[in-house]
Amino acid sequence: MRESILILDFGSQYTQLIARRVRELNVYSEIIPWHAFTSLPEGCRGVVLSGSPHSVREEGSPKPSLEGIEGVVPLLGVCYGAQYLAARNGGKVEASDSREYGRANLAHLQGEDPLLKGMSQGSQVWMSHGDTILDLGPGLETICSTSDVTYAGFRAPDKDVWGIQFHPEVWHSTEGPILLKNFVMGICGCEGAWTPDNFVEGTVAQLRADIGPDDRVILGLSGGVDSTVAAELLHRAIGDRLHCIFVDNGLLRKNEFDQVLHDYQDMGLNVRGVRAGGRFLSELAGQSDPETKRKTIGRVFIEVFDEASHQVDGARWLGQGTIYPDVIESVSATGGPSATIKSHHNVGGLPDFMKLEVVEPLRLLFKDEVRRVGRALGIKERILGRHPFPGPGLAIRILGDITEEKVRILQEVDHIWIQGLRDAGLYDDVWQAGVILLPVQSVGVMGDERTYENAVALRAVTSTDGMTADWCHLPYDFLAKVSNDIINKVRGVNRVVYDISSKPPATIEWE
Ligand code: XMP
Repeated sequence: MRESILILDFGSQYTQLIARRVRELNVYSEIIPWHAFTSLPEGCRGVVLSGSPHSVREEGSPKPSLEGIEGVVPLLGVCYGAQYLAARNGGKVEASDSREYGRANLAHLQGEDPLLKGMSQGSQVWMSHGDTILDLGPGLETICSTSDVTYAGFRAPDKDVWGIQFHPEVWHSTEGPILLKNFVMGICGCEGAWTPDNFVEGTVAQLRADIGPDDRVILGLSGGVDSTVAAELLHRAIGDRLHCIFVDNGLLRKNEFDQVLHDYQDMGLNVRGVRAGGRFLSELAGQSDPETKRKTIGRVFIEVFDEASHQVDGARWLGQGTIYPDVIESVSATGGPSATIKSHHNVGGLPDFMKLEVVEPLRLLFKDEVRRVGRALGIKERILGRHPFPGPGLAIRILGDITEEKVRILQEVDHIWIQGLRDAGLYDDVWQAGVILLPVQSVGVMGDERTYENAVALRAVTSTDGMTADWCHLPYDFLAKVSNDIINKVRGVNRVVYDISSKPPATIEWE
């Protein structure tokens, strides 16, 4: 039985972080929207109520009954979750005079309480709430305070119920990991058996049980981490009955197709490389609108993939590298069921491969967990550590229309940039790097002659998930050398700039 912690999501920006922190303790955790709760999953050892952009004072804000949870497994309310526990106990929650936001320090900490064991007086925590609890109601007891917040933490002594108004999952709560460990391991009694090795073993066994002994699976490899790890798991389960297809859209990095195809073959995967660069480029000719370019690439990819998949006889399944953040249903602004209703699939109009049953071995994992599983599977670091690369590839880094010559120039410049980062030992410090070919001609001098050639922008960012990003503060000497190399070696480029915008308000890509 897989032990787990269930998180009821009230729509906080931090909900996913709670799940990640629990998983760092090798305990599986699952997020569901608060209104989707029906019963505890088998093996569930405790429940966390998340924060929320709502106020418990608002009519229509999330107010689950907690039937089937309270008194059955331990319960921890965080921020809104804690305020809801106090309000339903007859306590008082009001708008705070000043929004309680940022760092605070815990005082009057009851070190003997099982939730706070091992934490220090003065421990720094992160607050982020507009409401505050003014009265806990009968029976609840305070376990810690801050200078502004009397009821920073409380518990129901006769039940396994705790509430904390701060966010232990946020990095600024320096002893947050201790508190979460106390809850998950100490109070809920989890053992922490959910390791990458166990995940591999369990998933391979499950895949073998789900996929019939003669069934074949088709999977599209992209060169990225997710599809590679998904392929390796499936390969371990069903061997050569996994048929991988790797499409060269002509918009990959220099030499990438051959190198990655070689790596896949080296892993023993049954993989077919399809060279379709010419087809993509001719379909893209004359298109300069970013969304039109994306749509064309998406359409041609589906056509090419469909043709390749027809060559696999008896395929029943489509393998995909979907990961957990793509699967979690987000809670809508009203806290009610999500406003987007999934459109009914018109199966008749879909390409043939899309009519297959879908198998997604990574749908429970966050990105960093995919890498850990990849390591447990022995996949090369060169593949696992690769920077993210957009599906439409260099097409969205060539601003404006795309020609073979522009792809050639960008591949050469990009190669010097990426190889330069590797040679300088900087590649792993960067989350994503690339080059943008600007639709700008710039004047230069070379020898005695004036030139009028392309300008390129180098981009390198740090990030954890691509949602926010900072430009990398790379050494000037390194940037100077790369700029020099590019201008000297790549015919057609006479100016190099470095993008120093962060996201937001800029994005990582330029179009
Ligand atoms: P932005 O530019 O929105 O990019 O800050 C965030 C992340 O998404 C990638 N990206 C894409 N990936 N198809 C993809 O598969 C796309 O059309 C696309 N556009 C952006 C981008 O490289 C970055 O990692």
